[in-house]
Amino acid sequence: MAILKTNDGAKRFAGPLRLGMIGAGFASKFHMENIPAGKAVVVGVTSPRAESREGFAKQYGIEAYASVEEMLPHVDAVDICSPPSSHARYMKLAAQAGVHIIIEKPFHGFFGSPETNTKQQMLEAVHGELAELREVIVGSGVTLGYAENCVYAPSVQKEREVVERTKAQILRMQGEESHSGSHSPVYGIWSVQGGGSLIAKGCHPLTPILYLKRKEGMARLGRPIRPAAVSARTHTITKLPGFEDRGFLRTTYQDTEDYAFLHVVFDDGTVADITASELVLGGIHDYVEVFANNHRTRCHISPVHVADVYSPSKEITKDIYFVEKITTNEGWIPCPGNDNWANGREGELVDIIGAIHEGRVPECDLELAIDTTLALYAGYVSADDLGREVRVPLL
Ligand SMILES: NC(=O)c1ccc[n+]([C@@H]2O[C@H](COP(=O)([O-])OP(=O)(O)OC[C@H]3O[C@@H](n4cnc5c(N)ncnc54)[C@H](O)[C@@H]3O)[C@@H](O)[C@H]2O)c1
Repeated sequence: MAILKTNDGAKRFAGPLRLGMIGAGFASKFHMENIPAGKAVVVGVTSPRAESREGFAKQYGIEAYASVEEMLPHVDAVDICSPPSSHARYMKLAAQAGVHIIIEKPFHGFFGSPETNTKQQMLEAVHGELAELREVIVGSGVTLGYAENCVYAPSVQKEREVVERTKAQILRMQGEESHSGSHSPVYGIWSVQGGGSLIAKGCHPLTPILYLKRKEGMARLGRPIRPAAVSARTHTITKLPGFEDRGFLRTTYQDTEDYAFLHVVFDDGTVADITASELVLGGIHDYVEVFANNHRTRCHISPVHVADVYSPSKEITKDIYFVEKITTNEGWIPCPGNDNWANGREGELVDIIGAIHEGRVPECDLELAIDTTLALYAGYVSADDLGREVRVPLL
């Protein structure tokens, strides 16, 4: 692939970016659906099981590679959609090879045992690893886009415009991501996921909340407003002796929580409250609400009602996809039309791939990914002490 150098030294690609997919599961599939045509083309995939990477390669007519190391020389950017415990290693390998990075949430975490490590040890380890990772990535000059789709939800982007153009002061925010439990067989295992609901689901509303305060700070004060301290509680409700399992909620959590609440205090004293859980029926429940000094906005992320479809029998609509994680197509069904558009999965790849082409920083960048991760692990330290306020040790 020919690379043109612009006057400012930024790399621009003469044609579509050659992308290498890491992972061949759920997230890789929705990333494939959202690659902007003409701007990028996925040329290869890697994942540990030969059967799964070859099946994926065959489905999309691309090359299967046995390892990331084998794939790197053939691509301009990697799209990391593998389990969280593998993210840091792949980001480092890519940066060292001069390959740009698209990285799924959660950015990074602590993947040792929660039995033998305190939450404070986890926070310190993650802090050190993030500092090292940041040095490698920034030093390499590659572009990193943190694929937090909620930042790119059209509703959040509209709110960004309102905040910037009216120089609003955001006084408090509230956000949630919950549903009835992840489909992934390795969800609920701390050593693979780096935690439970707090990190895996709480990251979704937290990043757009941090993003909006950053935008407010830049518009009003000429500096980003960042998280200063957090208080959190975590619980495992489905493991309570009195929990009555009616079969609608996932319950197989090895050593992670299924409910979390995070209170964030920003460096200007304003606040945000985030709920994340595996205890909610009725599809994905995902929103951010902003209470400002001059307006109030409820950002619908999922579901987004573009159409409400009523089906008197599930037989009528059984083969039609309406919205993620609604388990029955009967009765009233909230339908976003295209949920990749509504929840930001389309917008994230357009922006990040555009940023790689143009040599600019994407809207959801490395710094936002790092602040999110540190706020979440400070949250775990707080939850261990039943909600004591803990300072977020920003880099
Ligand atoms: N943004 C979102 O809404 C969203 C939704 C789901 C998942 N995710 C994120 O996407 C990532 C993958 O989740 P998923 O749901 O697709 O999981 P999944 O289990 O469906 O797929 C994971 C894939 O990665 C492969 N894999 C496992 N270990 C690997 C390794 N060490 N190196 C390379 N590949 C490996 C697996 O074989 C599988 O193909 C996670 O970080 C998850 O948090 C994001």
